Amino acid sequence: MTNVAASAVADYPLNQWYCAAFSTELGQQPLARTICDRQIVLYRGEGGRAVALTDRCPHRKAPLSGGRVLGDNIECPFHGMLFAPDGSCVDIPCQRAIPPAANVRSFPVVERHGHVWLWPGSAPPDEGLVPDMHWLVDPALSAVNGVMEIACNYLAALDNLLDDTHLSFVHRNTIGTPKIVKADIDIEGDADWVGFARWTLDTPPSAMHAMAGGFTTNVDRWFNVRFTKPSTVLIDVGSAPVGSGAPQGNRASGISLFSNGTVTPSTPATCLYFWHTARTFKVGDAAFSTSLRAHMEETFIEDKEILEAVQRNRACDAEKLPDLNLAGDAVTVRARRIIAALVEKER
Ligand code: FES
Ligand SMILES: [Fe+2]
Repeated sequence: MTNVAASAVADYPLNQWYCAAFSTELGQQPLARTICDRQIVLYRGEGGRAVALTDRCPHRKAPLSGGRVLGDNIECPFHGMLFAPDGSCVDIPCQRAIPPAANVRSFPVVERHGHVWLWPGSAPPDEGLVPDMHWLVDPALSAVNGVMEIACNYLAALDNLLDDTHLSFVHRNTIGTPKIVKADIDIEGDADWVGFARWTLDTPPSAMHAMAGGFTTNVDRWFNVRFTKPSTVLIDVGSAPVGSGAPQGNRASGISLFSNGTVTPSTPATCLYFWHTARTFKVGDAAFSTSLRAHMEETFIEDKEILEAVQRNRACDAEKLPDLNLAGDAVTVRARRIIAALVEKER
């Protein structure tokens, strides 16, 4: 594994889809996001279509995200140049002629399953590569979500989603239990994906699962985790009372949570973490959704704190020794190889 100290060299592939926002975040108020070192403004025109443009006016480089959405267009807040969804300038208030250079880049966007995906590369976008998360909009489930900026390299945040041995330590008061770090995993995958399954049997429930499931006895807990390129992790996790048959496939007495975490690189030392969790129990219970969201946010703040501490350590490291890999890194190393192959292909 390479040392992921903050580096000026891009370690992400560009010809891929990255989550830019949740669909619910976009409206007529412009939203500024940094994605793969690109300043982007996102908005919805009056037709409702999601638009993504470079957030930098060609005149004096003002951020368009400080401007107004007028119809389907966006107005620069400085001297009023008006840009269409395709990035072309359609009006310059102080003159009649529109010079050829009066435009900004427009990025391909696709909205699917509550996520707005952006393609930052120059190759033609392939909509077949958008990660499938159809369960997030399944009316038979209830879902909560959130987005968090983390001051760390995006690969570190991905590692963290794929190496759940940290749950026993970072999350000992929320979703972790001592047994997780000791339990074996079965790994599967190929050149495009990698995943693992882990069970912890006959163990006290984590604090969050106890809250969610109301368990009063020990539980069997499952984790089915899958990395899909370039930076999404799909997680099927749950607990059921010991003896209720979960390891044999009967989850009826337990709680199941289908989550995804998708990490979008912002800069070499910052990323956006979008999380979304759908559940099979207490469907439609708004009060429970509020409580679950608060517990999830508490958990992810625990991740943010350790990941940002790691990034600070890397940023001030004269020796720059390579990372030591442990057994718990078996999946993260394979995911990084998949990403490195994508980056290498683009070089
Ligand atoms: S900086 Fe945008 S119009 Fe002048
Ligand atoms: Fe975590």
